Amino acid sequence: MLIGAPGAGKSTVGRRVAERLKVAFIDTDALIEEEAGMSVSDMFVELGEPEFRRREEEAVRRALDEQTGVVALGGGAILSELTRSRLADHTVVWLRVTVSDAASRVGMNQARPLLLGNVRGRLTQLLNERTPLYESVASITVDTDGRAVREVTSSVLAAVAA
Ligand code: S3P
Repeated sequence: MLIGAPGAGKSTVGRRVAERLKVAFIDTDALIEEEAGMSVSDMFVELGEPEFRRREEEAVRRALDEQTGVVALGGGAILSELTRSRLADHTVVWLRVTVSDAASRVGMNQARPLLLGNVRGRLTQLLNERTPLYESVASITVDTDGRAVREVTSSVLAAVAA
């Protein structure tokens, strides 16, 4: 299970790790979008964040129950106490990133509704609020700042094999 802030590289690294381990890969945002037939951004606008979080909690529950491979969780999934307790039974890898690296990776990507308008400011706020939560559920922490996808992937593989 990969957790971390937007821009940490969860989806990109998760897909590579799954390929290397020859297991399936699921991105919970993609699961939610597929089921709703709408993008996460549209869901924030049309249904609101609380409804998105409700669907996210359910999508993560199913992914944790059914998935035997790699799961990338949306950056805010760990805001749910229920999700945090469910993660206790799994190997949870926190891809740690600082505001500067996350901001340059995310850029002005419209697909991240929570960051629109003030990417650095919002990321700073999200990281301040969430760092203790990421820390509390992580069984493994991998730093990603200044590192290429290939290097982070290797660190994750080495850590889960240890
Ligand atoms: C969110 C992160 C997004 C997505 C949604 C909310 C968050 O996923 O789930 O926009 O609260 O941090 P990524 O972490 O993949 O950007």
